[in-house]
Amino acid sequence: MFSAEFCRREGIVSCEHRADLPSKKNKVSLYRLQLAGGGEKHWVVKRFAAAERCKKEAEILAVLASAGVAVPRLNFAAENYLILEYIAGRTLLAWLEETEGIQEGELQTGCELVAGQFSDWLVSCYAALEQAYGEPLILWDVQLRNFLLGDRLYGLDFEECKRGRPETDIGRLFAFILTYHPPFTAWKFGFVTALRASLAPRLPLSWQLVADEADREFARMQKRRPHFRLPGENGSLAAQLRRLLY
Ligand SMILES: Nc1ncnc2c1ncn2[C@@H]1O[C@H](COP(=O)(O)OP(=O)(O)O)[C@@H](O)[C@H]1O
Ligand SMILES: [Mg+2]
Repeated sequence: MFSAEFCRREGIVSCEHRADLPSKKNKVSLYRLQLAGGGEKHWVVKRFAAAERCKKEAEILAVLASAGVAVPRLNFAAENYLILEYIAGRTLLAWLEETEGIQEGELQTGCELVAGQFSDWLVSCYAALEQAYGEPLILWDVQLRNFLLGDRLYGLDFEECKRGRPETDIGRLFAFILTYHPPFTAWKFGFVTALRASLAPRLPLSWQLVADEADREFARMQKRRPHFRLPGENGSLAAQLRRLLY
């Protein structure tokens, strides 16, 4: 994978493929590197299906890193792959599944703490992107597998960044959170409520637009997944989300 010249420059004496990481869009692998000095480190190699997506992700990673937003360090950018620092931790989805299981429906401080960290990350990300590009940009792929809880909260996966209003991301994010298995639990509504409370004073969001975008995402899910059903009749779930948001 790594060229002889690259290994010499980085002081790498050997490298071992450790695992393929879960990815639907690309090929993402974890490598262990033995260093000339005797130590070791772990790097992630992300191979992209399309070169322009690779270029975009490298560019956004650089913008966010230079603004102090927590993202994996970019060690090397080739035409269709990136070599990234490995962040030890778990995805926000793994955190959600484990925490919801333990807390059995009760909203506790852990949930509010993570909601606060997550909203801090989102607010600083949108500010950095708008500052760099002179217009608002969104992440679009805001599913919880694209955020890692390590020593702090990190964002990943920027290949689908594009122009847009943050309401689009936040509405989609809420729709994703509510529909992870088991969907629409009180705990998941609690997590959305904690995120809303943390975001509201810091991002000038229209909550009506957020709810509209969540509705659009629910409709996309219904098209994509033949067995997906919104619970309740006559849009009662959508009404519940609107009551929670505004
Ligand atoms: N730098 C990293 N450190 C640790 N895990 C990572 C890193 N980058 C990716 N991953 C893991 O690999 C998965 C896929 O990576 P991602 O960049 O989201 O690729 P894709 O575009 O295929 O979704 C992530 O959900 C995460 O679990
Ligand atoms: Mg991803």
